[in-house]
Amino acid sequence: MKHFINPNDVDSVEELVQLGLELKADPLKFQHLGRNLTMGLVFFNSSLRTRVSTQKAALNLGMNVIVMNVGSDSWQLEFEDGVIMDQGKAEHVKEAAAVLGQYCDVIGVRAFAGLTDRDEDYKEIVLESFRRYAGVPIVNLESATRHPCQSLADLITIEELKKKERPKVVLTWVPHFKPLPQAVANSFAEWVLKTDYEFVIANPEGYDLAPEIRKDALVMHDQAEAFKGADFIYAKNWSSYEHYGQVLTQDRSWAITEERMALTDDAFFMHCLPVRRGLKVADAVIDGPHSAVIQQAGNRVWSVQAAIKKILEARG
Ligand code: CP
Repeated sequence: MKHFINPNDVDSVEELVQLGLELKADPLKFQHLGRNLTMGLVFFNSSLRTRVSTQKAALNLGMNVIVMNVGSDSWQLEFEDGVIMDQGKAEHVKEAAAVLGQYCDVIGVRAFAGLTDRDEDYKEIVLESFRRYAGVPIVNLESATRHPCQSLADLITIEELKKKERPKVVLTWVPHFKPLPQAVANSFAEWVLKTDYEFVIANPEGYDLAPEIRKDALVMHDQAEAFKGADFIYAKNWSSYEHYGQVLTQDRSWAITEERMALTDDAFFMHCLPVRRGLKVADAVIDGPHSAVIQQAGNRVWSVQAAIKKILEARG
């Protein structure tokens, strides 16, 4: 695997899930792979899980780790070609990425969507610039439209918890007052569609994910109906793709309550975190015996460790 940007970079999702489980059972088994190599982590946005789990994973593989927050630890970066750089941005990504590629053997990048220009976000300008100019493998630590480290951890968690071969997995929109990116929902849909799970997306009208993401997944605009017989409920807010970046509704009836979960087949509750309690999910659900959120977050180490291991093996 040369880069880890979306599931198309992966030969077999099933094999990567199994590798994650293998690493969880024996975290230091491949410590020799990264000896004397450096993992660089570049953050344009805040993070708890991604930052710490990726550091931990790289250390487990024997790598050194450098973490940089763009803007506060470095110069502000320009991404446009051909501009006269007479405003606030002091360095172009062409130099910045190429220079970091001189110091690091693998680079992880986090850069969220701007949510003002759909075409610009879906072109993945920041991540693609790093891929183009760094000259080393890139790991997507959540980009404008994808969060593969999260989605792989989610699949590892489902594999650990599922009680039937082909569970029913429901990705449901939940309310929020702020416009949030589609990256986690997009990515979860994309990765689950690589499995043979039964998959349903539940969201209000106007919140359908991009057609190239949801493909032929069943989309329902009635959450209660979608929850019937579900084994996993994956809750996430996202802003509208159609009316790009807008909050069209804050309908609280879409929040996850005990009553809603009672419609399922004793489903596990999943969320990528951070989560706003009370707004998206009732305390009784997230604190309850079917909450998988801490296990999911724990599995972030094994998902990114599996991806980095594959990258290290491919670079020889
Ligand atoms: N789920 C997730 O990516 O968490 P952080 O934003 O804290 O990294």
